[in-house]
Amino acid sequence: MLTVRAPATSANLGSGFDVFGVALGTPADVVRVERAPETTISVTGAGSEYIPEDPEKNTVGAVAKALDAPARIRIDKGVRPSSGLGSSAASAAAAAVALNALYDRGRTREELVPIAAEGEALVSGEAHADNVAPSLLGGFTVVTDDGVTQVDASVPVVVCLPDISVSTRDARGVVPESATMDELVDTVGNAATLAVGMSRNDPDLVGTGMADTVVTPERTKLIDGYDRVREAALEAGATGVTVSGAGPGILAVCHRGDQRAIASAMVDAFDAAGVESRAYQTTVS
Ligand code: HSE
Repeated sequence: MLTVRAPATSANLGSGFDVFGVALGTPADVVRVERAPETTISVTGAGSEYIPEDPEKNTVGAVAKALDAPARIRIDKGVRPSSGLGSSAASAAAAAVALNALYDRGRTREELVPIAAEGEALVSGEAHADNVAPSLLGGFTVVTDDGVTQVDASVPVVVCLPDISVSTRDARGVVPESATMDELVDTVGNAATLAVGMSRNDPDLVGTGMADTVVTPERTKLIDGYDRVREAALEAGATGVTVSGAGPGILAVCHRGDQRAIASAMVDAFDAAGVESRAYQTTVS
């Protein structure tokens, strides 16, 4: 039997819609695999009641099929579905690494990215690699049609996860179809600042570069209490705040030592808005 852990991820980071992603230290999914004549899947842990165990409907089933690696697969969910933390991507990434090793398929981590992304397509309807890439490669990743660029990065973050659900389909439905030239120039500037910040492990540059005037403002309307939580995080020392992935998780970047105060401020602000939440104090890693 082989056991693989794959981390939660946060995609977009504001200005990098469908391009940027980061791996987070916690939470994570754990996948156990054993060779079997045909694939079976069992799921336990956070939100497991919402995840199909039919291999035809589970991301991990698609990965097993793509690698021609039938197995008894057990998924222990640490990453809740519909959180904005790359839940299905974590399972797909862990399964891809585990099955690749179990059957000696010899694929590199980079080669496993499109395979794990196929699993994602089954769930979200589109094969985005902006969550599977950082879950497989770690650090900060830039995904384009030409491939993936990865840099190791270490930046403190707090992710606050409200007890509400936002479907990726709904969150994609509110994305504007066009942007003005001014918005394009702003976005390129912010995204470039963020990328430089990641390469320098600089939370100030990363926080500044997360600003986004195109996609994020539309998505925040789907998250009860967002403005209040954002303000609270900034007052507690966050250098930047944005929606994590498609939401409803909210990501705050900060300096080491400020995480505890920011986590508590975000949870209290959600509470004041009548929404229960929990916060993870973690690091891009
Ligand atoms: N980039 C994607 C989105 C992440 O924000 O919709 C979820 O796959």
